[in-house]
Amino acid sequence: MLLELKNLRKDFGGLRAVDDVSLTVPEGAIVGLIGPNGSGKSTLINLIAGATHRSAGQVLFAGDDISDRPPDEVFQLGIARGYQEPALYLKMTVLDNMLLPVKNQRGEGPWYAPLWHSWHDEEAKHAERALAVLEQVQLLQHYDTLASDLSGGQMKLLEIARSLMGQPKLLLLDEPTAGVAPKLAYEIFEQIARLRRDHGITFLIVEHRLEILFDFADFVYVMHLGNLLAEGSVAEIANHATVREVYFGE
Ligand SMILES: Nc1ncnc2c1ncn2[C@@H]1O[C@H](COP(=O)(O)OP(=O)(O)OP(=O)(O)O)[C@@H](O)[C@H]1O
Ligand SMILES: [Mg+2]
Repeated sequence: MLLELKNLRKDFGGLRAVDDVSLTVPEGAIVGLIGPNGSGKSTLINLIAGATHRSAGQVLFAGDDISDRPPDEVFQLGIARGYQEPALYLKMTVLDNMLLPVKNQRGEGPWYAPLWHSWHDEEAKHAERALAVLEQVQLLQHYDTLASDLSGGQMKLLEIARSLMGQPKLLLLDEPTAGVAPKLAYEIFEQIARLRRDHGITFLIVEHRLEILFDFADFVYVMHLGNLLAEGSVAEIANHATVREVYFGE
């Protein structure tokens, strides 16, 4: 199992945001995580990414306990994430946004910075890879565009592209289509499916637009008030009486 959560819990003071959640994400899957506002989805993503400390439980990645790893170590291990609000540098170009997260760039070290020839090759390699990834998500022609001039959908794609620079095995996406026009929202999921197919990347995706998610997800978990309310195939979740009640208000 690529990702396994065991009895994960997170308390914020008296509020139990995530309550005894156990779930699994198999390698190569697109797993959906849905639930009403405030049900704990983003908190769960933060727990996996190391951005929030657990109150109890365990996060296992490829069998290793990563529960107490800080975010940069989690990223190095192969888990990248997107945010509910794209965290881009709006006054920088698309390509520069891509190059920012690349770790341990020699040119940034005080000893190497003046020695241009010692890092120039490495930087060219990173830029080449960044352009290749931009092509994968069809943003290549915008490499020199300021991030602020991108559409909402393109910003989301750029964020996904940037997280791919670390060559992750698992991508955690928190509402990848939020604020995006319907047609583009569907295209974002088509890109996700392509990344899974061509690069074997596994996805755990928080999404409110069920009509799109349900076209792509292999398996769906439903949260409600911090708990897992249901889990199953798309067909099972779409027809689940309690899910329809709390989630669709039926
Ligand atoms: N840092 C925090 N401190 C205190 N309470 C928090 C914190 N982060 C989240 N919460 C609370 O935890 C609960 C779960 O929030 P969370 O953001 O995980 O929900 P969500 O399912 O992602 O909601 P949405 O669909 O609106 O994004 C909410 O009641 C929220 O107010
Ligand atoms: Mg959220």
